[in-house]
Amino acid sequence: MTVSLRPITVENWPECVELKPGPDQNGFVAPNAVSLAQAHFEPWWEPYGIYVDDRMVGFIMYGYWPQASLPAYYGDFEAPQGVICILRFMVDANHQRQGYGRAALAQTIERCRQRPGVRAVHLSYEPSNSVAAALYASLGFRPTGRILDGEVETWLDL
Ligand SMILES: CC(C)(COP(=O)(O)OP(=O)(O)OC[C@H]1O[C@@H](n2cnc3c(N)ncnc32)[C@H](O)[C@@H]1OP(=O)(O)O)[C@@H](O)C(=O)NCCC(=O)NCCS
Repeated sequence: MTVSLRPITVENWPECVELKPGPDQNGFVAPNAVSLAQAHFEPWWEPYGIYVDDRMVGFIMYGYWPQASLPAYYGDFEAPQGVICILRFMVDANHQRQGYGRAALAQTIERCRQRPGVRAVHLSYEPSNSVAAALYASLGFRPTGRILDGEVETWLDL
């Protein structure tokens, strides 16, 4: 069994939009269809399927904050430079608790580490999302003390 990240393409996007978190987790992550629309219009995001062998079981999307100014709906958020943001991360409810999320996140961090000029990885999560909080903390993410749009902001210094 091998966990890997593969780009979302014209071939596999229909599979991606079928993936759903559990019913009690819907508030924790946007639907994958919304994330793919966002990646289309905000091309700095890189969407990937989380694969176990040849089966897509989850989704992760990350990217550099753009150097140019952000669209107005980002409000007064100041995009940090040299920082990669993991904007979305989910494993389908039918495939959770088998180590796939941890493996995919570890691979994403390693990819960020290998990009020249990246100094940190940034993400945020709902305060009630204790599973995500524990997973991020175990991989070295530390809360910054700031709340972004109601979410706990965390950083991993590389
Ligand atoms: C967060 C998420 C991606 C984790 O995916 P996963 O494949 O289930 O994660 P793993 O199987 O690698 O488990 C990682 C750890 O979380 C724990 N865990 C996972 N689901 C859990 C649950 N429902 N209850 C308690 N612990 C849980 C595992 O036991 C494991 O702990 P350990 O490594 O210390 O032993 C998945 O729960 C999910 O998609 N949640 C909904 C969307 C979401 O919250 N995304 C994050 C937005 S910030």
